[in-house]
Amino acid sequence: MDFNIAVIRGDGIGPEVVDQAILVLEKVGKVYSHRFKYEYLLAGGAAIDETGEPLPKATIKKCKNNAAVLLGAVGGPKWDAQPNDKRPEKAILGLREQLGLFANLRPAIVWDELAAACPLKDEIIAGGLDILIVRELTGGIYFGPKGSEVIAEASGISKLASHLSKEKPLPAGRFAYDVEQYSESEIERIAVTAFEMAMKRNKVVTSVDKSNVLESSRLWRTVVSEVHARYPEVKLENLYVDNAAMQLVRSPKQFDVIVTNNIFGDILSDEASQITGSIGMLPSASLGEKSFGLYEPIHGSAPDIAGQDKANPVAAILSAAMMLRYTFDRAEEADAIEKAVEGFLAKGYRTPDIHTEDKILVGTKDAGKLIADLIGA
Ligand code: IPM
Ligand code: MN
Repeated sequence: MDFNIAVIRGDGIGPEVVDQAILVLEKVGKVYSHRFKYEYLLAGGAAIDETGEPLPKATIKKCKNNAAVLLGAVGGPKWDAQPNDKRPEKAILGLREQLGLFANLRPAIVWDELAAACPLKDEIIAGGLDILIVRELTGGIYFGPKGSEVIAEASGISKLASHLSKEKPLPAGRFAYDVEQYSESEIERIAVTAFEMAMKRNKVVTSVDKSNVLESSRLWRTVVSEVHARYPEVKLENLYVDNAAMQLVRSPKQFDVIVTNNIFGDILSDEASQITGSIGMLPSASLGEKSFGLYEPIHGSAPDIAGQDKANPVAAILSAAMMLRYTFDRAEEADAIEKAVEGFLAKGYRTPDIHTEDKILVGTKDAGKLIADLIGA
């Protein structure tokens, strides 16, 4: 079978980890008789350098001509001085929005071999930890109305206030706002994703909101409960986000699937990633209505170690596995990659981020090769 993949290697360690993911895909191709075709595209800092734009129109267009996107990471200090709408991060937000990728799956798994890396006490994660965060990705405060302005005089009225016909007087000075907002259909579709995922796992969904304060969260909780009625086998729990943040470190094993809005998901997924102790191991998938998806490691561009063969390619490699699972519906091949990663760890190989004295230190390239070698072995 032929698989068409858009590849955005990106900035910092992005290119070197993506190259290893591709090495592993090539091995999968050999063992399972598939042909992967890659179209290399620009986004983020690399695109700014080349075209002046973080997300060139051609990139979006070409992404749409492929079945999936594999992305490394974007951004770095080089582009910190860029104006807000020309920052590398804009590329990520633009890709999500323009490709309709509303469902972000972020698994947080403590690998048996790496249990010692978990910063929590042994008894808290005894027996392993496997949480799937389902983050809404194209709505909420990230994409709501936003702006900044200068209020000329004390008791001035902001443009936002006039727009909302809520004439709350403001002190003179700078004023900025971002609006958290959700429609029923946006909540419904992400809830469906979460319940569908839970059906294939341990059948527990925890919906996280702030419905004791936020109107948008009240709608969130209502709609999630309504969708729950269609999934009687799944247990639904609701938590306020502050409590959820606490529970994640107090007793993370209570969680199976966590579903939450864009900004809470951003924060909780970073927290969850730290519980695993190995952010260099965590992949993610961003999905829309159809099989099209964007796959990327959770870690960023890590410019401090870029180009030094120090980065852990496992998150990128596992992102390729998620791509096989979700876009291409090839569970067997995805399982093979995950097993190869397990084998790599079991043999004692470690990249610097997860290395301990008793283990074998390997660089990015060797890690990729060792994992590729274990596929079909
Ligand atoms: C993430 C990142 C992005 C986000 C940034 C880079 C815009 O933190 O993917 O979690 O906030 O969504
Ligand atoms: Mn984030």
